[in-house]
Amino acid sequence: MKDDHDQFLKARKQRLQSVEGNSELIDSAQAFLKQCHHDDYSYNFDWMGLPVIQYPQDLLVMQEIIWRVKPDLIIEMGIARGGSLVFYASMLELLGSEGRVLGIDVDIREHNKRRVLDHPMSKRIEMIEGSSLDSDTHRRVKEIAHQHQTIMVCLDSNHTHEHVLNELRLYAPLVSSGSYCVVFDTIVELMPDNHYQNRPWNKGNSPATAVLSYLEECKDFKVDVEVDCKLLISAALGGYLYKK
Ligand SMILES: C[S@@+](CC[C@H](N)C(=O)[O-])C[C@H]1O[C@@H](n2cnc3c(N)ncnc32)[C@H](O)[C@@H]1O
Repeated sequence: MKDDHDQFLKARKQRLQSVEGNSELIDSAQAFLKQCHHDDYSYNFDWMGLPVIQYPQDLLVMQEIIWRVKPDLIIEMGIARGGSLVFYASMLELLGSEGRVLGIDVDIREHNKRRVLDHPMSKRIEMIEGSSLDSDTHRRVKEIAHQHQTIMVCLDSNHTHEHVLNELRLYAPLVSSGSYCVVFDTIVELMPDNHYQNRPWNKGNSPATAVLSYLEECKDFKVDVEVDCKLLISAALGGYLYKK
């Protein structure tokens, strides 16, 4: 039988290119997305036994990116219950590489730390407790990054404009060319004004506005629009930043 792999990929590319003009599809995805976010959908999933506060669709695309980029270091700001660190570590394990994961969180609760340390994937994981914007944290992350070649960064900590913009300024420069800086929770921008009563972020003061400001001041990155078109359902639309 004829190998139609290239044809399959070409048809997919064309299909994704047409998504931007498909307002019915985009509007229904965004209506679903807003309702999901409102109802804390991203808190419903585990990866290899630990809660991962992500949309399943984002994890699938992260898998695609990790397979393609083959990072030897994935840095993540915001550990929470450890599921995303374990997810990245398990992807690197499947690659069969020596890749490592570095997680940073301002507050690593003892019970969460214990579960990560007891996990079979912990051999690939290192954690630093401290604010991502603290100069000592930045120095320690840079020291570790300088021992690696292909680096990917994920920002998923405090979601205010100022915090994410400062994280981008500090950590996006560590990303290797051809790799990604992924900014999570751009979804905040889709929600109505003043949706978040108990959070310092809101529409207009969000990871999405920080990305826009950063892309103005740094021309090394571009939004991977194809990823947005394939995902539709994602907490990070406009946040998959490809380093040229
Ligand atoms: C959305 S959760 C992270 C979810 C996690 N990445 C996952 O996918 O399961 C956000 C985390 O960021 C942490 N955080 C908040 N402010 C921070 C800061 N300034 N520096 C580092 N981490 C911070 C919080 O303690 C919290 O654990």
